[in-house]
Amino acid sequence: MNLGIRNRKALVGGASAGLGLAVARALEQEGCEVAIVSRSAERLRKAAATFPPDARVMPIEADLSTSEGIAACLAAADAWGPVDILVNNTGGPPAGRTFDHDDATWQQACESILTYVRRMCGHFVPGMRARRWGRIITITSLTVKEPAANLVLSNVFRAGVTAYLKILARDVAPDGITVNTVLPGAYLTARYEQLIDNTVRQTGKNREPVMQELLARLPQGRFQKPEELGALVAFLASEPAAAITGAAIPAEGGMLQGLLS
Ligand SMILES: NC(=O)c1ccc[n+]([C@@H]2O[C@H](COP(=O)([O-])OP(=O)(O)OC[C@H]3O[C@@H](n4cnc5c(N)ncnc54)[C@H](OP(=O)(O)O)[C@@H]3O)[C@@H](O)[C@H]2O)c1
Repeated sequence: MNLGIRNRKALVGGASAGLGLAVARALEQEGCEVAIVSRSAERLRKAAATFPPDARVMPIEADLSTSEGIAACLAAADAWGPVDILVNNTGGPPAGRTFDHDDATWQQACESILTYVRRMCGHFVPGMRARRWGRIITITSLTVKEPAANLVLSNVFRAGVTAYLKILARDVAPDGITVNTVLPGAYLTARYEQLIDNTVRQTGKNREPVMQELLARLPQGRFQKPEELGALVAFLASEPAAAITGAAIPAEGGMLQGLLS
């Protein structure tokens, strides 16, 4: 299938590793120019080296959890742009249950999940509107559909960001812009390894039985692969996906149990 996005410019957050890098690679394979964002120039350099030699990859060093970092990212993206495809993604908030976090941690999670997405959309939508084409895809989590007891910050702010993006999708629908979210489940990235380490610490079990129990709960008997999420995002960014907007699409190997998940 021709995705029709050759030479489009795509800005991908949190893309020195994990899901963001897989998304950037999938978009690049479809002929996009990609800007990849992370807090570390060194990790960006290593990530850029994983692309084919003729890939057009622009590293942007910025901390997307701070106001100054977002401003730096926007300035660099403007100098490189115009951005046609915006992929919102950054590191996940700390794990923890209902009463585990102090006010500052709640505030920080709000900044890095909700404020970040709002500012990116607010900045890039006017240009997309003027060009009458745009794709906004945000990586959230399966916790949007089924809150997880030990991920209260993710549950709360990703639900909020999903509501924001649902309304945005309607607002920009007449302008040729689509807005969707994708909901990962268990991709064995650094983030997921961290969550496994937490479980090992909290339960006092060895890593091996923790992994076995986890795998037994995954309906496909395996972790999902980052490139599988990359392919989904590339499709949502494509021309043929023009009719899909306002959707929250799980990519979690059947982990969700709700009837309409
Ligand atoms: N993996 C899963 O199965 C899963 C499931 C549900 C939800 N999610 C969510 O999906 C997102 C991506 O997950 P992942 O598994 O790919 O995580 P990951 O492997 O930890 O990668 C996170 C990426 O984001 C970058 N990053 C982190 N904090 C940043 C910041 N403040 N500013 C800019 N870049 C930042 C990291 O680069 P630097 O360290 O170089 O900055 C890295 O490239 C997370 O929010 C995670 O909670 C993941």
